[in-house]
Amino acid sequence: MKLTVKTGKLQKLRTHLLAVFLFEETRTIDEWLTELNEITGNRLSELLKMRDFKGELNETLLIYTPERSPVRRVLLVGMGKKREFNAEKVRQVFGTASRNARDKKLKRFTLCLEGVTVPELTKGELAHAAVEGALLSLYQFIKFKTEDIKKYTIVNEIVLFALNRMNYKELCAGVEMGKLFAEATCYARDLASYPGNVVTPTYLANEAKAIAAKCGLKCSIFDEKKLMQLKMNALLGVAKGSNEPPRLIILEYNCGNDKADTVAVVGKGITFDSGGISIKPAKKMEEMKYDKCGAAAVLAVMKLVKQLQPPVNVTGIVASAENLPSGKALKPGDIVTTYSGLTVEVINTDAEGRLILSDALAYTIDKFKPDAVIDLATLTGAVIVALGHYATGMLGNNPGMLKKVMTAAQKSGEMVWELPIYPEFDEHLKSNVADIKNSNGPGAGTIFGAAFLRKFVKKTPWVHLDIAGTAWDVKEKSYLPKGPTGVGVRLLGVLLKDWKL
Ligand code: BES
Ligand code: MN
Ligand code: ZN
Repeated sequence: MKLTVKTGKLQKLRTHLLAVFLFEETRTIDEWLTELNEITGNRLSELLKMRDFKGELNETLLIYTPERSPVRRVLLVGMGKKREFNAEKVRQVFGTASRNARDKKLKRFTLCLEGVTVPELTKGELAHAAVEGALLSLYQFIKFKTEDIKKYTIVNEIVLFALNRMNYKELCAGVEMGKLFAEATCYARDLASYPGNVVTPTYLANEAKAIAAKCGLKCSIFDEKKLMQLKMNALLGVAKGSNEPPRLIILEYNCGNDKADTVAVVGKGITFDSGGISIKPAKKMEEMKYDKCGAAAVLAVMKLVKQLQPPVNVTGIVASAENLPSGKALKPGDIVTTYSGLTVEVINTDAEGRLILSDALAYTIDKFKPDAVIDLATLTGAVIVALGHYATGMLGNNPGMLKKVMTAAQKSGEMVWELPIYPEFDEHLKSNVADIKNSNGPGAGTIFGAAFLRKFVKKTPWVHLDIAGTAWDVKEKSYLPKGPTGVGVRLLGVLLKDWKL
């Protein structure tokens, strides 16, 4: 997708569609709207007078301009009330405009930044949010469609238009940043969308190798043999029931300063979660191909990191396996000795995410001694009970890190909400026969999962993001079409970029 910034006179603009954004407060034609009104043959002023367009958030109205006008259509998009407008709404309305243009089968169109203002955002940040909204809204996963593919329009150019030439450079930088964030997010969505018979642990490992080759990152892949040497029996255990071998994937980005902080991002990469012997009900089980969304976000972030050049060293780790039942599968009651040495009684083979992460986290901390660790995992259905599909569950052991992640979440628009891991929960972890157990009775399932993981990070500043409610199945918005959201990519992108702030 090509993104072009154009600044200058409206009269010079030629386009099939120009999307213009208006607040509810816009009742009359003044300033630059005078020129726009001319282009529409005064239809804009007429319909504003008639109150046919009220400027409500995401409201749209299409105006066909008089014949021979270089702007063939003007699409009005409402921004709602001026004082309630913010970055999130910028993403929404630019998404709404883009989807509308694509529905008209337009491969090229223009989005107007003139008149779009959020007091707390710079012009560059505004352009970033706008581009994110536009590109994320146009995401579609059609790789397996063979029939009627003509009905899917692939947009190949968006022009962002503003009047003031002075802003050109800043807008270009913002557009570029928005493009990087959106493309990385769409890459994570693609990885998540691929079914389990395509994306296997081996596939993810190959993807990591490709990212490393393209971006100049260091890449290490641990196969079964290496995992056995390292005694990663939790990861190996989960994979035992499947014919697909597990992988531990490591990507390293060096910012060029060895004294800089090292941040590790760890992702759960269960390429399909049937539950194993503690098998899940058939209903919606197909959605468990999305159990690799944490891994998808980590790989996407590593791709993004090379382009962002943040002032930190970043290590991306993915633990990947397929969770299936078979004669070789892990069973309830089995005890595994994890990489850390802690023994775990497997009460429920469907609580597999914490098992594979326990080895990944302990190894990451042992080997890389990071200054901070963040893990992303579709870990518990319980987080949906607690927070619904609006916020990612955030838990951790370090107030400073939790605050940093919260700030990045707010800036990126990917909401998180903290849940507590009270020390009392350590009691619940105790097993009669091993050190700890992987599942407990009902209640506070998300916290139990996090309390389990905390055993393997010890004192390293750590944040756990339970993305089971936000990785897919969220309420559709223009820029969050049906399917996986790519959650975590934008949040981590902001976190790493702003690390020193
Ligand atoms: N991948 C699931 C969590 C999940 C469930 C994500 C539904 C999204 C929607 C995870 O591996 C799992 O099965 N967790 C169990 C844990 C339980 C057995 C302690 C759960 O949430 O039921
Ligand atoms: Mn499970
Ligand atoms: Zn799972």
